Amino acid sequence: MRGKFIVLEGIDGSGTTTQLERAVAYLAGLGRRATATREPSAGPIGRLLRDALLGRLHMPDGGQLDGRTMALLFAADRIDHLQREIEPQLAAGTTVVSDRYLLSSLAYQAEETDRAWVASLARGVLTPDLTILLDVPIEVAARRRTAAGRPSERYDADAYLARVAANYRELARREGSVVILDGGRSIDEVAALVCRAIDSLFASGEKP
Ligand code: ADP
Ligand code: TYD
Repeated sequence: MRGKFIVLEGIDGSGTTTQLERAVAYLAGLGRRATATREPSAGPIGRLLRDALLGRLHMPDGGQLDGRTMALLFAADRIDHLQREIEPQLAAGTTVVSDRYLLSSLAYQAEETDRAWVASLARGVLTPDLTILLDVPIEVAARRRTAAGRPSERYDADAYLARVAANYRELARREGSVVILDGGRSIDEVAALVCRAIDSLFASGEKP
């Protein structure tokens, strides 16, 4: 049987990386084969994107990549990630949990280039079985990033993330497979909510 595809989304500092590990451990505890992955991916385009996010690309004019180029790179990384990692694992019956996927592009790149064009790049891309949006106030996410000593990145200004957070909520309202959780609670409380959402996904798949 094909594995399930589960995605964690939220603004920078919302806790997706923390909950990724928890979710995979929970699935393993249930005796299900599960693997963790993330976007930007570990592949060559993902590595290029991480350098771009950290301002480490050393552009000839000292500037940075424009929004359209970023959108194309994220879209290319996703196709590479899907065919190299996600699809083979799902086909082998493994549940794949990804820290970020398509909703990130629709929420972040829509703010720096044409929204409809960004959406058009997503056409035909695999839809997750479940996307979990960790909704966290901007100030809470900023405090967490500071406490974790995170270097500053391309998209982590509070004003930008406020627009991204609004995009996420709007997308979640429109897409049927997105569940919004209160990511402002403790790590254990959020993990319990994530586990419950995962349980519902498997329960719905097992109904006659
Ligand atoms: P993201 O991947 O969404 O940027 P992380 O999972 O890396 O977020 O979390 C950012 C920081 O906040 C880490 O230091 C992590 O330990 C901490 N953190 C994550 N979730 C919570 C939570 N629910 N409550 C308090 N701190 C948290
Ligand atoms: P990362 O360091 O992984 O942040 P986090 O641990 O908070 O997820 O950086 C990912 C950054 O890339 C984050 O700012 C969101 C952004 N991003 C996009 O803008 N579009 C995308 O399609 C993806 C996958 C990520």
